[in-house]
Amino acid sequence: MSIKLPPIITIDGPTASGKGTIARIISKKLGWLLLDSGSIYRALAFAVIESNISVNDFESINKLARNLEISLREGEIYIDSLIVSEKIRTEEISRIASILATDHNVRQTLLKKQRSFLSYPGLVADGRDMGTVVFPYASLKIFLTADISIRAQRRYNQLINKGNIVNIMSIMDNISERDERDARRLHSPLVPALDAHVVDSSVLDIKQTLGIILDLYKYKFGPSYN
Ligand code: DC
Repeated sequence: MSIKLPPIITIDGPTASGKGTIARIISKKLGWLLLDSGSIYRALAFAVIESNISVNDFESINKLARNLEISLREGEIYIDSLIVSEKIRTEEISRIASILATDHNVRQTLLKKQRSFLSYPGLVADGRDMGTVVFPYASLKIFLTADISIRAQRRYNQLINKGNIVNIMSIMDNISERDERDARRLHSPLVPALDAHVVDSSVLDIKQTLGIILDLYKYKFGPSYN
């Protein structure tokens, strides 16, 4: 007898490609669970800072990662009982998360946590290696990308709307530094899975991007969403 796993949609892509927004909308539409895998790396980065651990001290970082209680509940991310959803969205945490994510042992520890989110009726998972490493057997894989200047502009608008004072050139530098690190690292680098559909959203708005992905969903699963 074969065990039927819940269906999975993976949405991978570089920083600020819009994958988080798209993944959230699709998971709501389908009533499936959402795994924002970047938030797990970010939560670890937050805990590293809070524990005064140096970003070079991978022995301590790994020990912390193994013992960290990270959970996602009702759209919030928790470390133990503390909600850190907003606190992990800073540029500093983004940078540190991307550094921690280069370490093989950190990735192995967080891999188990990420796989534990798989449940019925289905999972929408976004990140860098959802379709290549974490859920290679996913039914539908999307690689969402966009030109770097467009991504920097979108991130700039997001931060400005939240009341932050930011400089577009420094955002562009941060994004390109993270792109470079995420794509060139040895372990689970950011690359489209061989069977991923690459969607370039440079000249698409959210509605158009969503339309393309929902068409792919319908093609794969049939028109069963509302
Ligand atoms: O998606 P994000 O920007 O919140 O992710 C923050 C960092 O975490 C990203 O720069 C690299 C790392 N990450 C990863 O290596 N693998 C994932 N699946 C998700 C995130």
